[in-house]
Amino acid sequence: MQNTQQPRTDLQGKVAIVTGASSGIGEAIAEELVKRNAYVALTARREDRLQELEQRLRGIGNAEILTVPGDVSKPEDVQQLVNQTVQRWGKLDIVVANAGFGYRAHIVDGDIQRWKNLLNTNVYGLLLTLKYGVQKLLENGSGHVIVTSSIAGRQVTAGGAVYSGSKFAVNAIAEALRQEVGQQGVRVTTVEPGAVVTEFAEVAGYSSEVIEAIKQMEPLQASDIARVIIQALEQPAHVDIAELTVYPTKQTGQGVFANTDKRQQ
Ligand SMILES: NC(=O)c1ccc[n+]([C@@H]2O[C@H](COP(=O)([O-])OP(=O)(O)OC[C@H]3O[C@@H](n4cnc5c(N)ncnc54)[C@H](OP(=O)(O)O)[C@@H]3O)[C@@H](O)[C@H]2O)c1
Repeated sequence: MQNTQQPRTDLQGKVAIVTGASSGIGEAIAEELVKRNAYVALTARREDRLQELEQRLRGIGNAEILTVPGDVSKPEDVQQLVNQTVQRWGKLDIVVANAGFGYRAHIVDGDIQRWKNLLNTNVYGLLLTLKYGVQKLLENGSGHVIVTSSIAGRQVTAGGAVYSGSKFAVNAIAEALRQEVGQQGVRVTTVEPGAVVTEFAEVAGYSSEVIEAIKQMEPLQASDIARVIIQALEQPAHVDIAELTVYPTKQTGQGVFANTDKRQQ
């Protein structure tokens, strides 16, 4: 019988941008890409953290890294990231749209400035990353987009209106993109992690009760998510793992919030 097996995608020499690379999941993905000899452009707002990461990654073989600090909710910053990446390496193959943060409050108690910042980063910032990044993938006629969503993009709990709303939007945007660019050889993978140990809980301002409940469930590490993403990236070019939901084994839905949600009085 004829062997119709297609080769795995080799990440060596692929050019990637990673948003939200200054910590957590983005940092872990950047590291895994560098270990596979991909060329990686890092972005986030904290320049010092990106430079520390760049230094660390330079210790891995012949790492090729570019650091472009910026805010994904600013079109000029995203354009700068994409343009500098293409100037440096002549192309773009992988866009990891990962920057984002959480927030929990009942709607009636919501901090309206935080709502705006969250939607500007998680939704508008994602759209900007996709708009300017995917243009370059289409010019290549191939590429792969990784979008970090959340299980909060599949399930809603009281207190999660704005974050869940943003991640439901992320899932819709990623699926629309998949339908728009698949015919042109560009793959789109949406990753929906459950609880992962990163700076996320601190940035979101979770209560100590929620943080303790997360610890009890043996949460995922950022490296777990990075490993799963690499598996999606390494599939043969005709295989698009469109959606990856990754739970800690002991996590049941978003139960940790259902059990601990209390309105701040
Ligand atoms: N940890 C979890 O349990 C979990 C679960 C499901 C989904 N997620 C999703 O995973 C993604 C990564 O989060 P994480 O867990 O790795 O949290 P994290 O450690 O707090 O990392 C978030 C990253 O996003 C960057 N960022 C935030 N706002 C930004 C902006 N406006 N422009 C550019 N970069 C920005 C942060 O860098 P700067 O502050 O330096 O800009 C940081 O690098 C997020 O989309 C999050 O919603 C996390």
